[in-house]
Amino acid sequence: MVGFLKIRENIWYEAIISAMADEKPYFTPLGFRVVNNVVKLRVYSSAKTSSLLAMNSEVVLNITDDPFLYFLSTFKEETGGIPKEEVGFIEGLPVLLKAYGYVIMRKKKVSQQERVVLFEYDIEKIIDNPSFYTSIEPYSRCRTFLIEMIIYASKIRDVSILPGTGDLLNSFKKSFDYSYEIVAKTCMGQAEIWLANRLKEMVSDWLRK
Ligand SMILES: Cc1cc2nc3c(=O)[nH]c(=O)nc-3n(C[C@H](O)[C@H](O)[C@H](O)COP(=O)(O)O)c2cc1C
Repeated sequence: MVGFLKIRENIWYEAIISAMADEKPYFTPLGFRVVNNVVKLRVYSSAKTSSLLAMNSEVVLNITDDPFLYFLSTFKEETGGIPKEEVGFIEGLPVLLKAYGYVIMRKKKVSQQERVVLFEYDIEKIIDNPSFYTSIEPYSRCRTFLIEMIIYASKIRDVSILPGTGDLLNSFKKSFDYSYEIVAKTCMGQAEIWLANRLKEMVSDWLRK
């Protein structure tokens, strides 16, 4: 059967990776790229996710563009993470019930680069989520730039604790503020506006420290 998800080769996509950690589901947003049918990930060696991926041979990429899922899985400590009701299981692996679909993959190769670990996976299966067959949405700058805000907020959180990173922090803050401008122009819903303002507060706290 031809699947509903189309994943092109050689472009970076974003997804939320999932695996079990101490018998609990664990979710983290990561960029991924497919080259000759092999999925490539680059994970900061300092991230917990890096040791989690080192321990698990089978993991899932949850395909989604939902800013709230990215928010909860990026800021697990601050938010309590993805609620139990939003988690399902496929062949014993945790998945996000609201994802468009799932890429089940098996680890093939791991290599350490300077500050990142490069993980490579063979694709075992791509599974569609049938609840989305009739609910494709138009492209939305609101949702896209909310995710950009989350990306820059996570960079600011991680870099603000390192010494001598003022210039880098400034450039992340600029990108964060620009993304906020687009969000402010294009998101009219209460939930989205709440998320943008929550991210702004979190970033000001990290920058104040
Ligand atoms: C859309 C998106 C994409 C991301 N891509 C990556 C990535 O490719 N590699 C990485 O190391 N971190 C990436 N991050 C940041 C991590 O998800 C973030 O630092 C997370 O909090 C790490 O979780 P951990 O501390 O549990 O490992 C991304 C974040 C977002 C929102």
